[in-house]
Amino acid sequence: MDIRDYKLNPVYSAEAIAKRIDGLGIEINRHYKGEDLLVICVLKGAVLFFSDLVRRIEGNVELDFVRIASYGKSSTSSGSINFSKDLETSLEGKHVLVVEDVIDSGLSMRFLLGQFKARNPKSLKLAAFIDKRECCEADVVVDFTGFKSNDGFIVGYGLDYAESFRQLPGIYELELPS
Ligand code: IMP
Ligand code: MG
Repeated sequence: MDIRDYKLNPVYSAEAIAKRIDGLGIEINRHYKGEDLLVICVLKGAVLFFSDLVRRIEGNVELDFVRIASYGKSSTSSGSINFSKDLETSLEGKHVLVVEDVIDSGLSMRFLLGQFKARNPKSLKLAAFIDKRECCEADVVVDFTGFKSNDGFIVGYGLDYAESFRQLPGIYELELPS
């Protein structure tokens, strides 16, 4: 099956995304009130969300990048997660905002936030572009949520299917061939 044969059903347009991120920027600025902030992008999926979001944040902002990889069945607790690229910055005494693309089971963020908490940040919060959870499953709190959605498998705006579709400016539901 060629990647070009998949059907993409529009979910959020580039305009709808930009409008929502304006709102998130306001929420974030209201919360931090111009305090120094370290914003961390979880590669690769969050890269477009992160680059749009940080441009709305006021004050002195530092950027860093992390990448995590899950081995085995990542949707079960038997799957193990570790860093395939760690931060270059210390979190000690800093206000830290982690920016992730999608929260599904919440396991990836439970791992990441647990690791980061142990590095003694002044505060640690999570912004997620999409929260797929029905309600508060797992013990991961999303402090700033772009959209709550359960549209099946989505691609675009940084999100991939087998490394394709990340560059699309909008979000689409991927219709798998029957
Ligand atoms: P979790 O550990 O189950 O919360 O998995 C979240 C990760 O799975 C996200 O960071 C994404 O990389 C990936 N993911 C989950 N759902 C989707 C989707 O619909 N499209 C693309 N990636 C997804
Ligand atoms: Mg991801």
